[in-house]
Amino acid sequence: MTLKASVGSPFARILSVGAATPSRVIDNEYLLQYIDSSDEWITQRTGIRERRWIGEDEDIKTLSLTAGRQAIERAGVDVAEIDAVILSTISHYHQTPALAPQLATELGLTDAAAFDISAACAGFSYGLAQAEALVRSGQARYVLLIAGETISEITDLTDRGTAFLFGDGAGAVLVGPSETNGIGPVVWGSDGSQAGVIWQTKSWQDAVADGTWPKLGMDGRAVFKWATGFIAQAAKKALEEAGITADQLDVFIPHQANNRITDTLLRYLKLPENVVVARTIQTLGNNSAATIPMAMDALLASGEAKSGQTALIIGFGAGLVYAGQVITLP
Ligand SMILES: CC(C)(COP(=O)(O)OP(=O)(O)OC[C@H]1O[C@@H](n2cnc3c(N)ncnc32)[C@H](O)[C@@H]1OP(=O)(O)O)[C@@H](O)C(=O)NCCC(=O)NCCS
Repeated sequence: MTLKASVGSPFARILSVGAATPSRVIDNEYLLQYIDSSDEWITQRTGIRERRWIGEDEDIKTLSLTAGRQAIERAGVDVAEIDAVILSTISHYHQTPALAPQLATELGLTDAAAFDISAACAGFSYGLAQAEALVRSGQARYVLLIAGETISEITDLTDRGTAFLFGDGAGAVLVGPSETNGIGPVVWGSDGSQAGVIWQTKSWQDAVADGTWPKLGMDGRAVFKWATGFIAQAAKKALEEAGITADQLDVFIPHQANNRITDTLLRYLKLPENVVVARTIQTLGNNSAATIPMAMDALLASGEAKSGQTALIIGFGAGLVYAGQVITLP
């Protein structure tokens, strides 16, 4: 028996972006009460001057809802047409139920497919690949992709190697059908043999036993080496897969892990000087899955990047996992 197959749009694109920045500004000076460091060292080694952490009335849900609502409003799409919600996160407290169904309901969606994905700092590009596939296959008309993180809650403030890196925040995009292609082929992959490069310091079972939360641990040098070697090649491949050359690119939004990593990627890709480069790490830190949509929103809001321009995005992180694609900015 031949079964009916769903038929979707030949192409998909990002229709809108939204973001939520938490209220507490944490400068480098603040962290010096916990770690032996200096504002100068942190700024020089990473580019980070300050980051945002959640305040009393904020959490991963409030941030994700704000970003998601903004993306829906900006797209001007009726919520009844949004068939799926994907939340990319590594900082939601509950392994089950997922947070995405609650976000979908609070955003006014009825009976939408909704699920969380865990792909750390590659989570936005992983989710975008899913959203694009759902729209193009006809499994969903519109997909809301939210990346929401509260990494401050799993940061070990006494760890000299990570305490200064992370911030909280959320970004969201609405992905929908398009007459021209706005999302290039994803270049993605994983290497589980490097699971020990960025890790959770203990399992939840051990956390229950000793009554303290697990935190994030990281071999910073190993991440740095991987990001400036293997990830640089993956970024180049994403350009090739989309059929464009470096001089046709308008905007570069790499995961905001370290400004020195971004500088190395720029040199490797030989991007022309006029390419606009995201540097939100300076004021937002590393927001894991949320960095790319938050940076996209910031660049469009400031006017540095414009709707319709061509951007390369690439995320990489714990797993190890990575994913990148070329997109048309909403
Ligand atoms: C974390 C990171 C900034 C550390 O920088 P680094 O140059 O690798 O630092 P190292 O661990 O090699 O230490 C270099 C020196 O700085 C010192 N140092 C380390 N942490 C310090 C701190 N917080 N403040 C001041 N000095 C510090 C070390 O003691 C060492 O001193 P020495 O040369 O006298 O021995 C860098 O490795 C990094 O950004 N990696 C990528 C991290 C990342 O992006 N992770 C997320 C991926 S999604």
